[in-house]
This record gives sequence, C-alpha cells and structure tokens, in this order.
Amino acid sequence: MSTDRSGPRPRPTVRHFSAMKERGEPIVALTAYDVPFARVLDEAGVDLILVGDSLGQVVLGYASTLPVTLDEMIHHASAVRRGAPDAFVVLDMPFLTYQVSREEALLNAGRVLKETGVQAVKLEGGGERLCDTVRHLVEIGIPVMGHLGLTPQSVHALGGYRVQGREADAAARLREEALALEEAGAFAVVLELLPTELAGEVSRSLRIPTIGIGAGPECDGQVLVLYDALGLNPGFSPRFLKRFAELHQEAVEGVRRYARAVREGTYPDADHSFPGEAPPA
Ligand code: KIV
Repeated sequence: MSTDRSGPRPRPTVRHFSAMKERGEPIVALTAYDVPFARVLDEAGVDLILVGDSLGQVVLGYASTLPVTLDEMIHHASAVRRGAPDAFVVLDMPFLTYQVSREEALLNAGRVLKETGVQAVKLEGGGERLCDTVRHLVEIGIPVMGHLGLTPQSVHALGGYRVQGREADAAARLREEALALEEAGAFAVVLELLPTELAGEVSRSLRIPTIGIGAGPECDGQVLVLYDALGLNPGFSPRFLKRFAELHQEAVEGVRRYARAVREGTYPDADHSFPGEAPPA
C-alpha cells in the first residue's frame, strides 16, 4: 500500500488528528518558516506544519529560542499560510507571550489566529498554571498543542539540550503533565527528547496524539525541524536526527556553478538575454 499522501486532500481539522491516532495512522509533521518550504511540505503531503520558534536558531541565527518575538512569529507564520493556504498550521508561542497571565496569553494567541490564519498554537510545559492557561484558550475556541520533555524555552533551567525523564520523579511528573494537558483540552502534545519506553507509555495513556522528536518510534506521529531534516544545518547532528537530503551541499555547489559561469563569461548567454538594438542616445 502506498504511504504517499501527496495530491488534493480535505483540509484537516483538530479532530482529524485524534481520528488518525484511533486508526493507528502516523501523523507526519515538519516545521516551516516561509512560502517556498510551506509549498514543498504541502505538495509532499505533510499532515501538520509547525511554525516553530526554532525559527530563532535555524533561520534568524539566535543562540536559543528565547529572543524570538511574537511579531517575528506572526511575520513567518503569515508567509507559511500564504504558501500553504489549505494546510493545518500550528504556531509556536514564543517565550513570555503566554506565561505571564492567562489573559495576556489569550490576547497574544487571539492575535496570532486573527493576523496569520493558522489554526492552532503550541505552548511549552504542563504544570498547573500552564494547564489553566491551556483550558482558558481552549474554552475561548483556540486549539492548543502541548509540548513536554525537553522544552527549549526552559533550556537554562534544564541545564542544556538533553534527554529528559530518565529519573523516576521526572518520569512520574511527565506522565502526570501529559494527562493534565489532555484534561485541559490540548488536541495533541509534542514529546521532545525522551526515552523510547517512556514516550511510548505516555502515548498509550492518552487519547490525544503524541508527536515525537527524539522520543523514539512509539509516538503517534513525528516532527523534525525542516532545516535539520533536509541538511541545511550541516553542523547539527544529534543522535535522533536523520537527514533526508543534503540541501546545504547542493546549494553550495549550485552557487559555485553560478559563480564559475559569471567569471568565465558563459552566463548570461544569448538564451538568457533580451536581444535588440539599443535605441539611439
Ligand atoms: O520550535 C520547534 O521547531 C519545535 C519543534 C522542535 C517541535 O518546537
């Protein structure tokens, strides 16, 4: 049976993802930040596009996701929406746009939906306070995706980008937070950098789908940062990452071919120029 989902598809909704989980159909997610790659993902049949705040590191060159602003996210998510008008797009709420109060979270998430046309937002964490905010947004009608495990906005508190949930108390907290997010109304939850068995156990304990990144094969779906998956970030090679293309190298070779042609005078040639006499001066 073909697993290629390219071609015209119905526009997915939040309910679509729990139905996929019920059918045991893996959810394919990737990040995107601009029109050309949003088109690529849509054409290739990706189920969910995440405008991740990884934008800060992979596109804008920041050292972490912490400096990313809501305006930057809105700018890039609007481009993704224009590139993939029918896709299901989730925007990652950046640091300090949803933690201060649930009222501020509502105003910021509402602004995101109004200005970008994305269908949902993603928030990191699963404590009581965060779940209260999730409940508040969901009640107002804003779909929320959770994010547990390695939550990059807490990188300093976590002491680096490392696998979470290895100790019994951390694993117990993670199980509880996953259930609390489901109870608060999240429609899915990203599990990042977790041991396979723990991610599998959490996935089986939830009705909503889990989307793993560095969390093994037992999640209900998978997400990767697109630039990492396509080899546009060649210095980055953590254990969980598999590169599905080597676009950085291809791009360097393409630019070298262009530079050589300009230097050798073979580009532009007659086929790429507009013939005709110059009008008299
Ligand atoms: O910002 C991001 O790209 C993410 C994914 C790694 C899940 O949150």
